[in-house]
Amino acid sequence: MSNVTLTIDGIEITVSKDKTILEAAKTAGVRIPTLCFHERMNPIGSCRMCVVEVEGFTQPMAACDTRVQDGISVTTNSGQLFRIRQDSLKLILVNHPLDCPVCDKGGECTLQDLVFEFGIDKVEYHAPKQDRLSEYATSLIRYWPDRCIMCLRCVTACREIKAIGAIDIRGDGYGSQVVSVHPDKCESCGECLMVCPTGALTENLSRYKGRPWISERVMTTCTYCGCGCQLELNVLNNSVIGVTTRDDAGVNRGSLCVKGRFGYEFIGSDERLTKPLIRKNGKFQEAGWDEALALVAGQLSKIKKESGPDAIAALSSARCTNEENYLFQKFIRAVIGTNNVDHCARL
Ligand code: FES
Repeated sequence: MSNVTLTIDGIEITVSKDKTILEAAKTAGVRIPTLCFHERMNPIGSCRMCVVEVEGFTQPMAACDTRVQDGISVTTNSGQLFRIRQDSLKLILVNHPLDCPVCDKGGECTLQDLVFEFGIDKVEYHAPKQDRLSEYATSLIRYWPDRCIMCLRCVTACREIKAIGAIDIRGDGYGSQVVSVHPDKCESCGECLMVCPTGALTENLSRYKGRPWISERVMTTCTYCGCGCQLELNVLNNSVIGVTTRDDAGVNRGSLCVKGRFGYEFIGSDERLTKPLIRKNGKFQEAGWDEALALVAGQLSKIKKESGPDAIAALSSARCTNEENYLFQKFIRAVIGTNNVDHCARL
């Protein structure tokens, strides 16, 4: 792909000609505000926050959806652009409630940040109130239609990143909303709420458990399977209150499955086994580690002696580390003497 040279805010930059103005600006270290744009999706072009002026063109154009051209001169900041972006936000706020104090997204909401940045202190435009049903919801994901700004990120992510297409937009104008068009296909993976730039899609498990600025985010590897997805455990008072992801971290680049995103409550569960249990008289009873290990070793030795090592089979777990799984198969093959060893990820 050949290169082109353009100027952005007076900075000359050479980039591949398949880049957008937004991508070129990022390379040049120039920030252009965005709302609907997401790096993992094709440009949506619904919010108009990224408008820029291109010399020779009378109308500002969306930087996220306009390819660079050789020799163009782009301005990303001017009085006119500020007013256009401010007006776009004001129009978004026509139906968006200013309920930030009770919104889960408070403190990490792109809309909240932009409203602050553009100094909007009141809702200037008004429209008749729409009675909208909260149609799209699962036991884990909640949709707040009044907070939805129709950026289409959730719908696009479900279609382009997850290749599912379980949700779509229905209705016209201010009456439109996200609906579940294929509820049977929804995997509750949470991709939609992960990309939502406002509090229109929130999760049910972590609600009211803690604001982002008082919890600590600990980057770790998901324990559910061998993919090694990276996630952040949101920790408050030594308890996990939620899971978030970062677009720049790990092979998953922010995506998770339902287990990784929502399956964290077991960590602090009172029902977790912390001591070995031995079945005695038909009932599990707590035992010490020495007693439990002696019992297992004795039983394995007895079976091996009486029926041979192939009478034993072992199943390992994706919830263990690679090192633990390696040791386990080594023990079964080298100590027990059988290749009857498998892993739950293949079930
Ligand atoms: Fe470009 Fe929304 S970020 S139109």
